[in-house]
Amino acid sequence: MKTQVLSAEREEDLQLAARLLREGELVGLPTETVYGLGADGLNPEAVLKIFEAKGRPQDNPLILHLAEPEDMTNYCHSIPETAWLLAKTYWPGPLTMVLPARDNVPKCTTANLETVAVRCPKTEATRRIIALAGVPIAAPSANRSGKPSTTTAAHVLHDMDGRIAAVVDGGASEVGVESTIVDLTGEVPRLLRPGGITPEELLELLGELEVDEAVLGQIDAKTIVRAPGMKYIHYSPTAEVIVVSGKAEAAANYVKRHFQDGEAVLCFTEELPLYEGCNPTAYGSEADIRSLSAGLFAALRDLDKPEIQTIYARCPEGGGVAYAVGNRLKKAAGFHVVDAEAEP
Ligand code: TXA
Ligand code: MG
Repeated sequence: MKTQVLSAEREEDLQLAARLLREGELVGLPTETVYGLGADGLNPEAVLKIFEAKGRPQDNPLILHLAEPEDMTNYCHSIPETAWLLAKTYWPGPLTMVLPARDNVPKCTTANLETVAVRCPKTEATRRIIALAGVPIAAPSANRSGKPSTTTAAHVLHDMDGRIAAVVDGGASEVGVESTIVDLTGEVPRLLRPGGITPEELLELLGELEVDEAVLGQIDAKTIVRAPGMKYIHYSPTAEVIVVSGKAEAAANYVKRHFQDGEAVLCFTEELPLYEGCNPTAYGSEADIRSLSAGLFAALRDLDKPEIQTIYARCPEGGGVAYAVGNRLKKAAGFHVVDAEAEP
């Protein structure tokens, strides 16, 4: 299959993308979080193609992307007031809500769950495509399963060229990490994945928020979790990733003591001078956490080379968007974190 590259700026390209989706084809779509691998979310055959193209286990459910917030009533039932409050505040935007699914949502989209994840993305071109297609679009991140998510059309082509009908180029994703997921089907809203909408913002609006154990640490593959995707190793380049925590100087000293050929460092721009001779790459500035979220996956992809066996990674501390960046990096590391201030 020849993968066409379409432009988010051309109306006829958006129409073509919508037509391909209606015909059951896969199309890479730009969103403000990461690029999605879209298919008609109501068409089981089209949805199965997603799992095939990604090499994704079928017990991992997909997010349905909507053109308008109100569309959630078509695919969800028993929608609580909190969901409308969140939609009013954060949609279109980088927030996904898990709600009870209506019967029209195919079981392969929800991986047999009674619930469905829904999101109204901010990127105008993609909402236009969804509206033109006239169906909700199931879309996981457009990477091969287990690899870092894709934040440019070039990343999507790298992973999916020849496997999908088209990719719509809308430039680099501004948030850079996947949406925040909050499950609203229990007594208390539960954070399943941190993202661009922060835990602090959710707590302020909702008054209460539980954090799922999958966010906090690696869980074994047999554990039943609410976001089935969280149990898989994610975002990993081929190399082993080790997060080195602690103050800048202590971390640099630790890395320098252990550094060998075939290794690399992923750090903040401010720390580049500390890692001279240690093959450093900066993914953004520590002073601007949003630059770190925007740059993380592209940097992990750059470091995904056979000659690099170990990556020492520096991770921002604290809440807000730093919490999401830390979550992705720690997942890439399989939660292997060394404290440079305590370790020899
Ligand atoms: O920002 C994003 O959310 C991107 C863009 C393309 O919108 N999409 C994305 O999809 O990250 P994906 O498939 O890579 O991650 C979706 C996560 C998975 O961990 C999955 O297990 C979880 O959402 N999920 C989907 N449906 C769910 C449900 N009904 N209950 C709990 N978790 C669910
Ligand atoms: Mg993903």
